[in-house]
Amino acid sequence: MHNDIKEILVSESQIEEITTRLATQINNDYANKELVIIGMLKGALPFMTDLIKKITLPIKIDFMQVSSYHGGTTSEELIFKKDIDEVIENKDVLIVEDIVDTAKTLTSVLEFLKSKSPNSMQIVTLLDKPEGRLVELTPKYIGVTIPKEFVIGYGLDFDELYRNLPYVGILKEEKYK
Ligand code: IMP
Ligand code: MG
Repeated sequence: MHNDIKEILVSESQIEEITTRLATQINNDYANKELVIIGMLKGALPFMTDLIKKITLPIKIDFMQVSSYHGGTTSEELIFKKDIDEVIENKDVLIVEDIVDTAKTLTSVLEFLKSKSPNSMQIVTLLDKPEGRLVELTPKYIGVTIPKEFVIGYGLDFDELYRNLPYVGILKEEKYK
């Protein structure tokens, strides 16, 4: 285990189970649909990579980048950095996130993508932190619900570090105090 980690919350084998379970649901729910999977950079990258390898449908993928954290652990103003390239009009859209906390990011993203007239929009998130909600939002597909702790690894960062850890862990408090 990495020295800056207090505790592993979601292990590599749990991640494997989660991606298998969610991909199976998605394969069933989107059979015969035109699915566009949109990953939220940068945090959703490892999760999206593992998830799409288990999706057996003819999907298209794209990315969006909106940033909210600037080297801290509390939410700040949103900056839209990258728009999608694919046309999603009349398509079924599945947004992939690493974590839903306040839900402010995804609420803005949903509002933004709605103007492109997709047929449907749903969210798949590896982690859900419902105690952090400031706006109401329930992702359709949730990997695991976690307590209100600051977590890192498997895409999640603190000050851009730790994204490459193969598991999700709780960062030692002394690392951000
Ligand atoms: P929200 O808008 O508060 O739901 O935040 C969503 C984004 O904040 C996520 O995509 C993450 O980039 C970041 N975030 C929220 N909680 C954590 C955390 O515990 N660790 C690392 N990043 C987080
Ligand atoms: Mg993110």
